[in-house]
Amino acid sequence: MNIALLLIATGNYHIFVNQFLESVERFFFKGFHVKIYLFTDKFDIYKTERINIDYINVPTLQFPYPTLYRYKWFSGINIKEDYIFYCDIDMKFVDHINSEILSELIVVRHPGFYKGGGSFETNPRSRAYTPNGEIYVAGGFNGGRNKKYISMIKELAKSIDEDERNSIMAIWHDESHLNKYINEIKGTKINILNPGYCYPENWNLPFKKKLLALQKNHNKIRAI
Ligand code: GAL
Ligand code: MN
Repeated sequence: MNIALLLIATGNYHIFVNQFLESVERFFFKGFHVKIYLFTDKFDIYKTERINIDYINVPTLQFPYPTLYRYKWFSGINIKEDYIFYCDIDMKFVDHINSEILSELIVVRHPGFYKGGGSFETNPRSRAYTPNGEIYVAGGFNGGRNKKYISMIKELAKSIDEDERNSIMAIWHDESHLNKYINEIKGTKINILNPGYCYPENWNLPFKKKLLALQKNHNKIRAI
């Protein structure tokens, strides 16, 4: 069994890459063959030991486009690995993550809404409109079995593209579309991980820390 890990690093987000990759080498699917697909505006600058990196060129864009276009970019390459994951680069694995999390799709409950609620899209004109959302998931880490994940990214890319053609942007960009998909899909086994898999660095939550979402100055990091 092998694993693909999709990552995006453009603009100032390069400052996070080395420490993120170190945490991947140490904690992410040890004992399996892992391949990284790095969507980036800079080539061949990172060194890894256990894991090979493929570089895919994307432009340096202003926020929120690098996050909004992620599913379109992912759909543009051929990913053969059995399981595919995406992780934000401004994060860090702090404990082992292995085959115990695998399912047809894998998502993480948003740390701000694990007791309920969520910031679902409320505009009925958006393809992300989720009037009956029950579980709000974070956009920062998700994955799935090859075919299931690829059908998800294609569907999300299509919805986001359609919104853009109608001059609509969902409130939390790609995350809003992901939430619609997860809340409305039928017949797919989904593992909803607890917020320990998207644990904001300086918060105190009743979950074991697995993957930290690093504290950052949003405006400074997002400026290009
Ligand atoms: C914030 C997070 C955003 C988005 C939002 C949803 O805490 O930084 O990326 O997930 O919650 O309400
Ligand atoms: Mn993030």
